Amino acid sequence: MIVAENLVKEFKVTERRPGLLGSLSTLFSRKYRLVRAVSDVCFEIPAGVKAAYIGANGAGKSTTVKMLTGIMTPTSGRALVAGLEPYRERRRNAANIGVVFGQRSQLWWDLPVLDSFRILRRIHDIPDTVYRRNMALYRDLLDLDALGNTPVRQLSLGQRMRAEVAACLVHDPKVIFLDEPTVGLDIVLKGAVRELVNHINAELGTTVLLTSHDIGDISAICDRVLVVNEGEVVHRGSMEELLATADTRAVVFEHRDIGAGPDAAVALIETHLVGASARVVHGGRIRIEYPVACWSARQVMGFLLERFDVVDCVAPEPDLEMVLRRIYTGQPAKRSETVA
Ligand SMILES: Nc1ncnc2c1ncn2[C@@H]1O[C@H](COP(=O)(O)OP(=O)(O)O)[C@@H](O)[C@H]1O
Ligand SMILES: [Mg+2]
Repeated sequence: MIVAENLVKEFKVTERRPGLLGSLSTLFSRKYRLVRAVSDVCFEIPAGVKAAYIGANGAGKSTTVKMLTGIMTPTSGRALVAGLEPYRERRRNAANIGVVFGQRSQLWWDLPVLDSFRILRRIHDIPDTVYRRNMALYRDLLDLDALGNTPVRQLSLGQRMRAEVAACLVHDPKVIFLDEPTVGLDIVLKGAVRELVNHINAELGTTVLLTSHDIGDISAICDRVLVVNEGEVVHRGSMEELLATADTRAVVFEHRDIGAGPDAAVALIETHLVGASARVVHGGRIRIEYPVACWSARQVMGFLLERFDVVDCVAPEPDLEMVLRRIYTGQPAKRSETVA
């Protein structure tokens, strides 16, 4: 449904020299520098998949979304969305897609939200049945009625973002692009956005491409992940595969202390499980992080049960944030060849 073939986007930026003389000199001799925002990116997202496009700030996520939605033309390479090249066939493409840019509104700033929906209905020529079904859904899920006649510019961020997401879906697009859709939202509102996206995907098979920094969004919505670093896709696969590349695992346990104290427990663990680190977390529980290259879960558990009077023990899932940090800082990660 979404195909990126060797997508490249370069920007020409003017080199600025420092100081007033520097600013003046750029008036006469302009020096340009090429910024390669997206570098030879290839991926394919099948219909109905909810994919996350993950990367640090400046990794090229928004630029990629802009090429996929037809706002920008690639420097080289090609994008295909529902069979169309978006930047060549912007009008036809617009019927197939919905877009939310968390940083920028797509709604009519001076109009009440419901008027924006009426305009979208005309623009997309949405059939009555579809429009009514969707408005009924948003009314429940997003509490649209509460927004009433308030112009968009007077809405709170949370109200506006809910309206943005609904507006991108109102014409039943085949594909939606959500670029940081929950930036600045509280947990309840994030939940509403996640629920709506998942609902639409389940009901209509809508393909989703989500960029987010929010690990919670990614886990709650996406079944596939693409990780970009410096403009290139460095990991593609399922969320489980990405998490499986974690090189450390964690165990948190609680024990009945017979008087030696938490520091002694930490010291005992670190002496015995060489390479692991332990620290006391809230409630006097102890968190151990151990390299999977040195220790298996079975060995760690065996050691704890032998040396401590364990009352509770959990092995939290590998931490996505930690996995991503390792990828961004360039340490080798196991590459998965599964097509996302
Ligand atoms: N219009 C532009 N002109 C010049 N440089 C740009 C422009 N848009 C983005 N960039 C640069 O391209 C890189 C990628 O930006 P972006 O796609 O916004 O990253 P992300 O969304 O992953 O944070 C950044 O270094 C950014 O400064
Ligand atoms: Mg961005």
